[in-house]
Amino acid sequence: MSMVDAPFVIGLSRLHRYDALLSSAGLARWLSSRVDEGLHWFDHAPIDGGGEFTDLLGRAIGLDADLARNMRLVVRLGVIPALQDSSGMGTKHYDTSPEGLERSLTGVLKALGVERIDTLLLMRPDPLMDVAATGRALDAFIADGRVKRVGVANFLPAQWRHLQSAMQTPLACQQLPLSVAHNTVLFDGLWQSLQQDGMTGLACSPLWGGRIFENQLGQMLGDLARRHNVSPAGVALAWLTTLPGRPVPVVGTLREKRLRTLASDAGLTLSRPEWFALLEAARAFRVP
Ligand SMILES: NC(=O)c1ccc[n+]([C@@H]2O[C@H](COP(=O)([O-])OP(=O)(O)OC[C@H]3O[C@@H](n4cnc5c(N)ncnc54)[C@H](OP(=O)(O)O)[C@@H]3O)[C@@H](O)[C@H]2O)c1
Repeated sequence: MSMVDAPFVIGLSRLHRYDALLSSAGLARWLSSRVDEGLHWFDHAPIDGGGEFTDLLGRAIGLDADLARNMRLVVRLGVIPALQDSSGMGTKHYDTSPEGLERSLTGVLKALGVERIDTLLLMRPDPLMDVAATGRALDAFIADGRVKRVGVANFLPAQWRHLQSAMQTPLACQQLPLSVAHNTVLFDGLWQSLQQDGMTGLACSPLWGGRIFENQLGQMLGDLARRHNVSPAGVALAWLTTLPGRPVPVVGTLREKRLRTLASDAGLTLSRPEWFALLEAARAFRVP
């Protein structure tokens, strides 16, 4: 069974584009409506919005006790933007050291006003990672109850397996860019490695940031949408959820109407010819 009991995760990185969500009261109302609709999984990275979104999210959660209970949060850590580098260097860098992760986790829990997050993701593979130390730290976060599960993002199989070899807890998931327009991981073995290791794939940018609606691919999405009486965006998510291992899309729109449409379109499975027709439209050549 998928770790996510919702049709998709809602990524919060585009919050700045929605004026109505930039007040804590507005955001609390919006979050509460999503939770009521069963869209209770959210993805957040403290580096989004220059670091201000975490505080905003925390103030919103603080207004409604049900939110902290019912929201499921995926939080990506391990990247320190230049402006948050307190070393005097002002360098954007990765920090997956136990001390760095402890600082980041403590900070995010405090800002959000919650005792626990559902999923902690290491946002990028860190060449300076001491896997034994990082693996112990991640296991300890789970053991002390502050994190329910741990995963990675943008890792290669050798990178997550190296980390896994130093951990007691199985890595639960990997977040990676995946859409009909951005599909190489399906052909280079990475997607199959995730399945082999029992990890859920969280497919971020499943609409390629909105660009999949253009050109031949956009036309084909429209044709299939009419055929199945769903939206073109619903077809694009169905292209993903038709895959073995069933990735969970991490969508970026925060528009209520679009989210409701995506939720009502969920559950469609494409036939093989439909799936390959979309692939062909995206790549502009037939499979060999
Ligand atoms: N791990 C990583 O490295 C990483 C990288 C990138 C993203 N992410 C995560 O993935 C999330 C989603 O990424 P994304 O924003 O690129 O996702 P996306 O769902 O591929 O793209 C969202 C964009 O598509 C637009 N769009 C146009 N037509 C749409 C339609 N009919 N239905 C829905 N959206 C439509 C939206 O516009 P409107 O906003 O105007 O609706 C929005 O600008 C992020 O918020 C973040 O949480 C993670």
